[in-house]
Amino acid sequence: MTEETLSNLLHENRRFEPPAELAAAANVKASAYDDAAADREGFWAAAAERLAWTKKWDRVLDWDNPPFAKWFVGGELNVAYNCVDRHVEAGNGDRVAIHWVGEPADEARDITYADLQAEVSRAANALTSLGIGKGDPVAIYMPMIPEAIFAMLACARIGAPHTVVFGGFSAEALGSRLEDFKAKLVVTSDGGYRRGTASALKPAVDEARQISSRAGHDVGRVLVVRRTGQEVAFDEDVDVWWHDVVDSASPEHTPESFDSEHPLFVMYTSGTTGKPKGILHTTGGYLTQCAFTHWEVFDLKPETDVYWCTADIGWITGHSYIVYGPLANGVTQVLYEGTPDSPERGRWWQIIADKKVTVFYTAPTAIRSFMKQGREIPDRHDMSSLRILGSVGEPINPEAYIWYRLVIGGDRTPVVDTWWQTETGAIMISPLPGVTAGKPGSAMTALPGVSADVVNDEGVPVPHGSGGYLVLTSPWPSMLRTIWGDDQRYIDTYWSRFRDQGFYFAGDGAKKDEDGDLWVLGRVDDVMNVSGHRLSTTEIESALVSHPKVAEAAVVGATDPDTGQAVVAFVILRENAGDGGEGIAKELSDHVRTQIGPIAKPRQIMIVPELPKTRSGKIMRRLLRDVAEKREVGDTTTLADSTIMELISAGQATSTED
Ligand code: WT7
Repeated sequence: MTEETLSNLLHENRRFEPPAELAAAANVKASAYDDAAADREGFWAAAAERLAWTKKWDRVLDWDNPPFAKWFVGGELNVAYNCVDRHVEAGNGDRVAIHWVGEPADEARDITYADLQAEVSRAANALTSLGIGKGDPVAIYMPMIPEAIFAMLACARIGAPHTVVFGGFSAEALGSRLEDFKAKLVVTSDGGYRRGTASALKPAVDEARQISSRAGHDVGRVLVVRRTGQEVAFDEDVDVWWHDVVDSASPEHTPESFDSEHPLFVMYTSGTTGKPKGILHTTGGYLTQCAFTHWEVFDLKPETDVYWCTADIGWITGHSYIVYGPLANGVTQVLYEGTPDSPERGRWWQIIADKKVTVFYTAPTAIRSFMKQGREIPDRHDMSSLRILGSVGEPINPEAYIWYRLVIGGDRTPVVDTWWQTETGAIMISPLPGVTAGKPGSAMTALPGVSADVVNDEGVPVPHGSGGYLVLTSPWPSMLRTIWGDDQRYIDTYWSRFRDQGFYFAGDGAKKDEDGDLWVLGRVDDVMNVSGHRLSTTEIESALVSHPKVAEAAVVGATDPDTGQAVVAFVILRENAGDGGEGIAKELSDHVRTQIGPIAKPRQIMIVPELPKTRSGKIMRRLLRDVAEKREVGDTTTLADSTIMELISAGQATSTED
C-alpha cells in the first residue's frame, strides 16, 4: 500500500458495528482489554488454563534474559493430546474434525475426532518404528491432504519437531531447509492435484536429498503417501510407503508429556538476506495463544460452527489456524485440497454452501481475484450460513473489504482484518467481532494481552494521526523463541533496531489514525509480500546471479492490483552473454522458478546496462521501484552516476508473464 492510498484510507469513515446478537453471545467482551491491562500475566495464565496440562507451570513468564522468553515455565503437556484425545474423552469422538474436500469433485472424506485419534496414533507409532523420537527433526512436504495433518500431530505427539515446507517450493529450496533443519526423515506424497492435474512431489524430495547430502547432511528415511498413483522412483533403503507402515500400525498410543518450552516446529520464512530464517516455536505458549486467539477473534462455538481457513499448511497460517488453534478448540473444519477455480470458478462458494461454513478466513489477494470475476459467480450460491469473515496476509484495501462483507457476507458479517507474522505465531492486532466497530482497511487495535505501538526513528510513540514503525512492546506467549541455530541473527533481526526500548521490530510500517486505531502499511525492509507470501529481494537476487548469463541483479516489489506486490527484476548480463539471446527473460524467470518456486517468478525482468548505486555502493531500490511502477523517477542526487536512471528508463523492458 503506498502513502497516497493510505492518506485516502485515512479519510475512510465507514464503520460497521458488531451485530447485536453476536455481541450479546460473544466469547470475549470489551472487559477483556481492561482485565489484560490490569494483569497481563494473569490474563495469559487464564488462557493457558483452557488447555490440559499434565504438570502445571511454576512461573507464567521468564523474561530475565531478554529477548529469550520462556512461558509457563516448568509446565508439561502434549499438544496432540490437547488437539485430539481430550475431545474424544469429553464425549465428542463422533464430532467431525475435518471435512476433507478433494480437488477432484467426487472425492471427499469426513474425519471425526475419534478417527483422528486413531490416525494420529498410528502415524506416531509408525514414526517411532522408523527410529524417530523426542527431539528428532522431521520435514513434511505435502499437498493439502489429511495425512499432512496426521503427520504434524504425530510429530507433536512424540516430541519430534517438524518443519513443513510448502509443496510449491522447489527441490533447491527444500534441500537447503532439509540441511539447515538436519531433518532425519521426510514425510511426502507421490504428488497432489492442482487445477485438475496430478503434479509430482516425490521427485523433488529425491533431488532435495541429494542437495542436502552434498551440503553435508543425509536424510535417513522418506515416508511416502500414495495420493495420485503416479509412478515414483523408490529407493528401498530410504523410501517407505505410508500405507505399508502407518495403516498397519496400532491405533493406540499413549502420549508423553513435554516441557512447555520443548520445540514444536520450525517454519522457514524469508528475511532481508538470501538465507531463509528458521523461526522456532515451542509448545505451551504457542498452543495457548493460537487456541485462545482462534476462539476470541473468530468467536468460535465448537458445537455449532463450521470453520474454514483457505491457507496452505505449508505457511504459518495453516499451522496456527488450521492445525493447532482450531483443533485445540475442538472445531469442525473444512480442509480443501485444490485451487479456488477447479473444476469451476465457484468451487469455494459451492463448498461454503455444501458444508454450511459459518466462519471463513482467507487472504485479500484471493478476494481481489474474485472481485475481478464479478459477483455473479458467488451470487449463485447460498452462503447465508456465514457469520464471520477473516482476512490475513497483507493490508486489505477498503474496496476489497466492502466487497467481501457485502457479496460474500451478505452485509451481515463482521470482517476481522488480522495482523500477525510467522514470528508472532498467532494473531496480534485485530478487531473483535462482538466488540469492535470495524473500519474497512484497518486492523484496529492490539488484542487483549498484546501490546503494540507505532514509533518514530528514535523509538518514541507517534501521536494519533501519524505514521512510523510497528513494534510490539511486551513479550507474548506464542512469540518466536529464536532463529533455528542462530541466536545472534534473532537478536540482530528483531531486537536491535529498538534495543534501548526493548521493543520487537516487526519490519512493517503503520499509521495510527485520530482514534488511535492501526493501519498497517506493509514492509519497510527488503521483504516483499506477493499474494500474502513473503519473499526476500536478496533471495531472488541470489537466484538470478546464480545463472551463468547474469552479472548483477536487483529486485524490487512493485505495487500490483492483483497480488498486492509483484516481483520486478533488473538484470545486468555478463559481457560474454551478449544481449542474452531471444527468450532471455523467460530463461531467467524459469531459473528463479527452479531455484525457489513458482511464487518467486518475476512479473517482469528488465535487462539494464547499469544499476543505480550510491557512492558507497548501495543499490537505490527506491528509484527502481519508480521505474517498475512507471512513475517519474524521484530524487537522484545521491547517485554515484546520475545519468544511470536515464539509461535504465530507456532500457529493454521484458515482460515474463505467461
Ligand atoms: C507479514 C507477515 C500472518 C500470516 C500470513 C503472513 C503482512 C500479514 C497483515 C494484515 C497488513 C499484513 C505484514 C507482516 N501482513 N497480515 N492483516 N494487514 N499486513 O505471514 O509470511 O510471516 O508475513 O505479512 O507485512 O509483516 P508472514
